[in-house]
Amino acid sequence: MIPDGSVDLVVTDPPYLMNYRSNRRVANEKFRHIANDVDSTDLIVAYLAECHRVLKDDTAIYMFCSWHHIDFFKQEFERHFKLKNLIVWNKNVHGTGDLKGSYGPKHELVLFGHKGRSLLRDKRLPDVIDCAKIPSLKLTHPTEKPTELLRRFIRNSSDPGDVVLDGFAGTASTCVAAAEEGRDFIAFELETDYVTVGNIRLDSVNAVDAK
Ligand SMILES: C[S@@+](CC[C@H](N)C(=O)[O-])C[C@H]1O[C@@H](n2cnc3c(N)ncnc32)[C@H](O)[C@@H]1O
Repeated sequence: MIPDGSVDLVVTDPPYLMNYRSNRRVANEKFRHIANDVDSTDLIVAYLAECHRVLKDDTAIYMFCSWHHIDFFKQEFERHFKLKNLIVWNKNVHGTGDLKGSYGPKHELVLFGHKGRSLLRDKRLPDVIDCAKIPSLKLTHPTEKPTELLRRFIRNSSDPGDVVLDGFAGTASTCVAAAEEGRDFIAFELETDYVTVGNIRLDSVNAVDAK
C-alpha cells in the first residue's frame, strides 16, 4: 500500500535464507529462528520489486546478505538496481561454524545499489567497513545490526527528513538509526515480540530527543 515513488532510501536486512539459528541462544524461545529464513526466494523476489516501485528516482538501497546465497541475492538485486558496491562489513570477531574445517567467518555483505543515480552525501568510505558486532549478551534480536553501521549508510545516502524503508525490521535497528539521524521511517516486522522490543528502543531515542 506504500505509494509509488514515495521512499527516499531502503536500508534492509532480509532473512538470509540459511535457516539461521544462533548456537548460544537456542535455549531461548525468542531467539530460536528467523521467520521465512528457509526457501523464501519468492518473498525476496517480490520484495525487491516492491522496493524498486516505492523508491523515488535517483535514490539508493542497501541490502544485507551473506555469501551463502550471494548469487541469488545479487542476481535478483540487479534485476532492479544498478549495483554499485558489494560492501564488506568486517565484524572484527569471527563466529562459529565448522571449527575444524572452515575459516572463521568474520564478515557479512551489503549490496549497495541505485535506482537512477544517488550521490553520496558524506565522506567517501572504503567498501570494507569495520564496525564491531553487538556482543551476544546485548543482542535484542539474533541477527541485530549495529546502529552505528546503519547510521553511516543513512547519513551517506539520504537527507534529514527523508523516509527510510526497512521491510524486515527485526527489533527496529534501521528505525532507531533513522530516528537518530533525523529521518522518518517505514518498517514492517512479522514477529510481534520484536515489534514490542523495537518500540521500546524507539521510545528511548525519542526520550533522548526530548531532553
Ligand atoms: C535478518 S532479521 C532483521 C534483523 C534487524 N536488522 C535487526 O537489527 O533487528 C529479518 C527479520 O525479518 C522478519 N520477517 C521475515 N519475514 C517477514 C515478512 N514477510 N514481513 C515482515 N518481516 C518479516 C523476521 O521475523 C526477522 O525479524
